[in-house]
This record gives sequence, C-alpha cells and structure tokens, in this order.
Amino acid sequence: VIPTISFKIVVLGESAVGKTSVLNRYATNKFYQKIEPTIGSTNFQKTINQLDYKIKLLIWDTAGQERFHSLAQMYYRGAKGALVIYDVQNVDSFERAKEWVEELRKQGDPNVQIALVANKIDLPDHMVDKNEAIKYAKENQLLFKETSAKTGEGVTEAFISLAKSIPLE
Ligand code: GTP
Repeated sequence: VIPTISFKIVVLGESAVGKTSVLNRYATNKFYQKIEPTIGSTNFQKTINQLDYKIKLLIWDTAGQERFHSLAQMYYRGAKGALVIYDVQNVDSFERAKEWVEELRKQGDPNVQIALVANKIDLPDHMVDKNEAIKYAKENQLLFKETSAKTGEGVTEAFISLAKSIPLE
C-alpha cells in the first residue's frame, strides 16, 4: 500500500489577481476570460503521486474582495501551505500579497509554507519588479513562482513545489 498524506492548502490574494483561474487551470486545465468574483470560498481535491507516497491536497479558494477579508481566517486555519498570488501588472496587488504573508505569519499555522506567486505573466508590461519580488520572497522564506492561468505556464509546478516543501512532521 502506498501511504497518502493530506494537506490543506489555501489560496489568498487581492481580488482579480487570478486565484480562481489558477485553480481552474490546475483542477481542470481550463481558462475563462470572463469569470465571476468568488463569493465566500470553494474547494477541491487533487492528488500528487510521488514515487513512494501520495500527497492529497485539499485546496481552498478564497474571495479576494475586501468585504470578505474577515472570512479568510477560517480558510487558512490549519493550512500547511498557502499560495499568495499577485498580478504582475498590478503593483497594489503585490503590496496586498505582502500583507497576506504578514497575516499568515502572525495568525496562520506556525509552520505554514508559503509560495509567492506572480500570475498573468503572459501579459506585457510587468509593473511589479521581479527582482524586488524575488528579494522579498528570500527575506521572508517564501517560494517564488511565476504563472499564467491563461497559458498554464508554471501552474502545476507551483502546486507541486509548495506541496513538496511542506514538512512531513
Ligand atoms: P476574486 O474571486 O474576486 O478574488 O478574483 P480572483 O483572484 O479569483 O481572479 P479571477 O480568477 O476571477 O480572475 C480575474 C480576471 O483575470 C479574469 O478575467 C481572468 O480571466 C483573468 N486572469 C486570471 N489569470 C490570468 C492570467 O494568467 N492571464 C491573463 N491574461 N488573465 C488572467
């Protein structure tokens, strides 16, 4: 029998950075140009097969709109991993991502592993300085990943890297 470990993963970030889109790409390999903002949250499961064990991820999408902020705690409670996403065209969303990182460090699981994710890299005009993001990630012990939910670039890799970085205890 191949052992299975399960982890809860939460996805956080400002509204419209592409949280739901990244998850749709990972879950169903599809992308939608038009998509409604998330209300509350949704979740799905995905299993990653390693050579000698399986990692079952229970992944929670959250609503980025500020009026839902207070709900987020419920979703990151008990999460061993978090994807904190920003939009490379939107400097404010990078600032918001840093706030999520601070909140997770203060109020999340003490060992939560965090991946900072730069999404929408298919678009031109990257307004967030990549080197600054890498530096921030290093200083704060975050993984740094680049994705496009539209093309699919980097998406699976972001989840697998995050899952593998979670200690087995
Ligand atoms: P909330 O539910 O409000 O928190 O938003 P969200 O972060 O889940 O964003 P959502 O996935 O709804 O995407 C917002 C918009 O950005 C949609 O129009 C998507 O099609 C678009 N989008 C998401 N990811 C990408 C991407 O990688 N590239 C491009 N070009 N557009 C993207």
